[in-house]
Amino acid sequence: MPETTRVKALPDAQTVTSVHHWSDRLFSFRITRPASMRFRSGEFVMIGLMGDNGKPLLRAYSIASPSWDDELEFYSIKVQDGPLTSKLQHIQPGDEVILRPKPVGTLVHDALLPGHRLWLFATGTGIAPFASLLRDPQTYEDYDEVVLTHTCRQNIELEYGKALIDTIRSDEMLAELIGADNLKKLRYYPTTTREDSAKMGRITDLMRDGTVFADLGVPAISPDCDRAMVCGNLAFNLDIKALLESYGMIEGANSDPKHYVVEKAFLD
Ligand code: A2P
Repeated sequence: MPETTRVKALPDAQTVTSVHHWSDRLFSFRITRPASMRFRSGEFVMIGLMGDNGKPLLRAYSIASPSWDDELEFYSIKVQDGPLTSKLQHIQPGDEVILRPKPVGTLVHDALLPGHRLWLFATGTGIAPFASLLRDPQTYEDYDEVVLTHTCRQNIELEYGKALIDTIRSDEMLAELIGADNLKKLRYYPTTTREDSAKMGRITDLMRDGTVFADLGVPAISPDCDRAMVCGNLAFNLDIKALLESYGMIEGANSDPKHYVVEKAFLD
């Protein structure tokens, strides 16, 4: 029996509509969205493929598309010997993937108290949930200013985020919400750590020495007006959590909204 026929037999199969390879290590793809599936921008779901043993091989993936989008978008690394991404990186439009339509997660507006400025701190593919939140009108209705920081090793890893920001600034509906002076309402602060670029360094170091605040012309983070969401590798999450707490920020949850929330970028 052809493999696609086997997957189609699964109740949770969705069809791939497009795939974009950003580099030999990164790709994004879009799939159909079940008509009944609701989610809050920033949440994640389990997606995957049939394993060789006939059992679904699933991993947690942040939804990168906003909740108003007809399709679902995901952004992934390619790990050559990774159980899932070694196969997933070869998907083509028309192929089917498995989606468990039960979205969950803490990077949601409900987990934060109202504030003036929202910081979104990402490393690597940790930008995915922010790609959802940054295309959600609520983000600009709730905050006067939104800052996306994205730290990657190399320039090529910043391409997805750059394209995202360009799309948002040229989108009719979002551009109207962000305002004519959209450079001020939506701030983008990309940095690289292992290749020359306009701004180099780990965001944590640039916060500790005050560079990021001076560059953006904003005061240092304070629980009075700043809120933050964090998504990156484990070491980064721990470091930035400690840093945010040194500013007096308290971690929130869906049931107990506070000043910041953290989610791990899910790696193969
Ligand atoms: P660095 O190159 O200095 O390790 P990775 O690809 O390993 O997931 O890392 C993605 C980005 O996150 C890299 O630019 C890396 O910087 C940065 N990074 C890794 N660990 C930390 C950390 N503890 N604090 C801040 N940035 C980090």
